[in-house]
Amino acid sequence: MTTLWNKKSIAMLEAEAALSDDGKKSGTHSPKRALSGFDLTMLGIGCIIGAGIFVLTGHAAAVHAGPAVMLSFILGAVVCAFSGLCYAEMASTVPVAGSAYTYAYATMGEFIAWLIGWDLILEYCLGATTVAIGWSGYVVGFLHSLGVHIPDVLARAPLAFDAATGWTRTGALINLPAVLIVALITLLLIFGIRESARINSLMVVVKVAIILAFIVAGFSLVDTTNWITSANPNGDFIPPNSGQAGEFGWSGMIRGAAVVFFAYIGFDSVSCVAQETKNPRRNLPLGLLTSLVICTTLYVLVAYVLTGVVRYDQLSVPDPIAVGIDALGMPWLSPLVKLGAIFGLTSVLLVLLMSQPRIFQTIAKDGLLPGFAKKIHPRFHTPYITTLITGAAVMTLAGVMPINLVSELVSIGTLFAFLIVCVGVLVLRITQPQLKRVFKTPAVYLVAPGGALSALFLMSGLPGDTWMRLFIWMALGLMIYFGYGIRHSVLRRSLENEPNTAD
Ligand code: ALA
Repeated sequence: MTTLWNKKSIAMLEAEAALSDDGKKSGTHSPKRALSGFDLTMLGIGCIIGAGIFVLTGHAAAVHAGPAVMLSFILGAVVCAFSGLCYAEMASTVPVAGSAYTYAYATMGEFIAWLIGWDLILEYCLGATTVAIGWSGYVVGFLHSLGVHIPDVLARAPLAFDAATGWTRTGALINLPAVLIVALITLLLIFGIRESARINSLMVVVKVAIILAFIVAGFSLVDTTNWITSANPNGDFIPPNSGQAGEFGWSGMIRGAAVVFFAYIGFDSVSCVAQETKNPRRNLPLGLLTSLVICTTLYVLVAYVLTGVVRYDQLSVPDPIAVGIDALGMPWLSPLVKLGAIFGLTSVLLVLLMSQPRIFQTIAKDGLLPGFAKKIHPRFHTPYITTLITGAAVMTLAGVMPINLVSELVSIGTLFAFLIVCVGVLVLRITQPQLKRVFKTPAVYLVAPGGALSALFLMSGLPGDTWMRLFIWMALGLMIYFGYGIRHSVLRRSLENEPNTAD
């Protein structure tokens, strides 16, 4: 049983990475170190700005926080900044692919690493599924406004789920646009990481330009009389609580933070491409933290302008930024915003679908998943098998599943990973203080527990059903670990052969 807690030393992880760089591993090909700090920042922004800001901001303002959605964004950013600093330290200390999975392997041992690797599927695969379904909604609406109609039967999931009524059939056949975009991006990702990063950068430029256009056009038109509604006659920045927890007041602001937390998901994806990054000890923390700072600034400014030009009780719509643009009296900007949202969601999808295969591949290298999953394409130098498997799984889910069921598991899965990384940083500081850390989390004994507790706090606000599904998912993961992983673990075998090298 002690095998469960076997850890990989940092030296061991670095040696594996170096070996992989040399391409000397028998039967495998090596990934290329092609990404710069700038590319990583663009990947971070690519994965962060998406459905959160383009869709959820309006709902969070209208139903939970009012103009104080700005504070919700700041609170969400604080939670992410705590975890982001811990991710940055881990990435600079263990600059190896695999993100939270690898960090857990180095700090808490194989069993926790497997659990977190399994949990990350919720963040990346289900995150990609959620965004693909959102993408389909935006594209179908955009095409409709251009006079191109996709029949409903081909643009919606055949299944719906509601906690009260359970599963029902919608009458539709398949969400075809969602399937097609995932297929297209999967092919692009197999073709090459450099090409994928370039296309991502282009999409990031477009979506950030559109968001900046909205901020610049609306900033001088903000009018705080828009804060006045029937439920907020004094026009308070934090509207009075309605009597229900989570509906305005301070509790509403906090619930709003849990909703807009989705808008920050993805900054950690930067740490999944460590193996393909030049000078990862420097560039990983740089990419992680720069993308987080840029996105937080944009989010708070968007929230300020949006709630300043439209009454917040009118914002519970699927395209709140477009509503904001209409209020500015610039209808010509509206289609551009929709296009920006489509670009935004596409780049989120691209980075999520790029991250998951690299985590699978890292786990397979450790023997916890079958060996075919670690193969790199001889010509394109990408993990093509795991990219195909991820693409196929996401295509299937995006084609048939309802968005509410998948999206709720994304946040809880991500927060769980944050929790483990924050604890991992502390464990490593205490057990191996001498390690080379290019980036050190400032005030780590405050920031790391702060990150862990705030992640736990946001998790505690999620519904009981979501927790239940998390437990079921993790139980499935346990079965796979005890049925397969533990017997095939490369680390366990090497420790059994050379017992003295343990630790
Ligand atoms: N942060 C990403 C989004 O908002 C997942 O779409």
